[in-house]
Amino acid sequence: MIYMDRNTCPVIPLSEEDIISAVQNTALNLYPEDEYTTFIRLYAERYGLDAGTIELANGSDEWIQKIIMTLGKSGVMSLQPDFNMYQIYANQAGIRFYSIGSNADYSFDYDHILDEVRKVEPSVFFISNPHNPTGILFPDEFLNTLAEVLSEWNGYLVVDEAYVEFAPKKYSPVSENTLIIRTMSKMYGLAGLRIGILIAEGTAFDAVTRINHPYPVNSLSLNLGVQLLKNKDTLNTLIDYQKNSKKALEDSLSQAENLISIKKSYTNFIFTYGPQAESLALYLKDHGFTARIYEEPYLNNVVRYSIISLEDYPAFKQLITDWKESI
Ligand SMILES: Cc1ncc(COP(=O)(O)O)c(C=O)c1O
Repeated sequence: MIYMDRNTCPVIPLSEEDIISAVQNTALNLYPEDEYTTFIRLYAERYGLDAGTIELANGSDEWIQKIIMTLGKSGVMSLQPDFNMYQIYANQAGIRFYSIGSNADYSFDYDHILDEVRKVEPSVFFISNPHNPTGILFPDEFLNTLAEVLSEWNGYLVVDEAYVEFAPKKYSPVSENTLIIRTMSKMYGLAGLRIGILIAEGTAFDAVTRINHPYPVNSLSLNLGVQLLKNKDTLNTLIDYQKNSKKALEDSLSQAENLISIKKSYTNFIFTYGPQAESLALYLKDHGFTARIYEEPYLNNVVRYSIISLEDYPAFKQLITDWKESI
């Protein structure tokens, strides 16, 4: 079975040699110290950030949980649909969760979102940008206004940039009440190592990092991450591979564009919907390709496909042709 339902990288990003070297250089008997600061320094350099605004945790998932625990007190709000862990962590913490629905075509009405936010006055608003599951990118002006509105009652905006490396640009926060979370799980292909990144300043940074563990990420994960960040050639090859895979995915699905609706995506996956969307996904599943079909009623007839290895596209494309002929 080829999995297209996980939004992860289809290849292992490091060579066997690089992996062995990182393992050999990891002091398993010691707590991580320099490994942590080296990773942060390299990450900050790569993105032109101040290292003092960055902290790490076990996946950006852990940051979502910590942000809700520390800043979420009077309610957490997000979009429907958006990354479902926002709601799951709010529920775990016993914090009220509110959501704002999309239009019928899974676009969002920005004025409606701002009106709902003003009504509820949540402590934290989470938004994934690029957005999971639709793959869209929100306009900077909308995010700036959202942050400004939230600041009226000392609320916080969390921009979850898990897929930002697939987008043409990154959002630059204009106010201190905006926190950014990122991950090494998507474009960097290190989902198994669990490295999540927080970028924040001022009171938001202090509040969230106050509950940090002394050694939040293990040395081996950090050393493997450092190995990848240090090696520009490996990184460029990895990024090109996934961008080519994304083009191949767009190209394959475009064969069905008169039968299903396909959103332009700035991520490593593509969102499709419409009365025939599930029929295609079920046909592909019967022939070895599993896409993400949703159980949530608000995602009825939606299917999301994530990128796969380049060598798997000819078979995937042929199956779409066969499905078209079969209906
Ligand atoms: C929008 C979004 N945020 C966060 C995550 C979690 O990433 P991590 O592996 O860093 O916990 C995901 C994973 O699918 C995601 O889609």
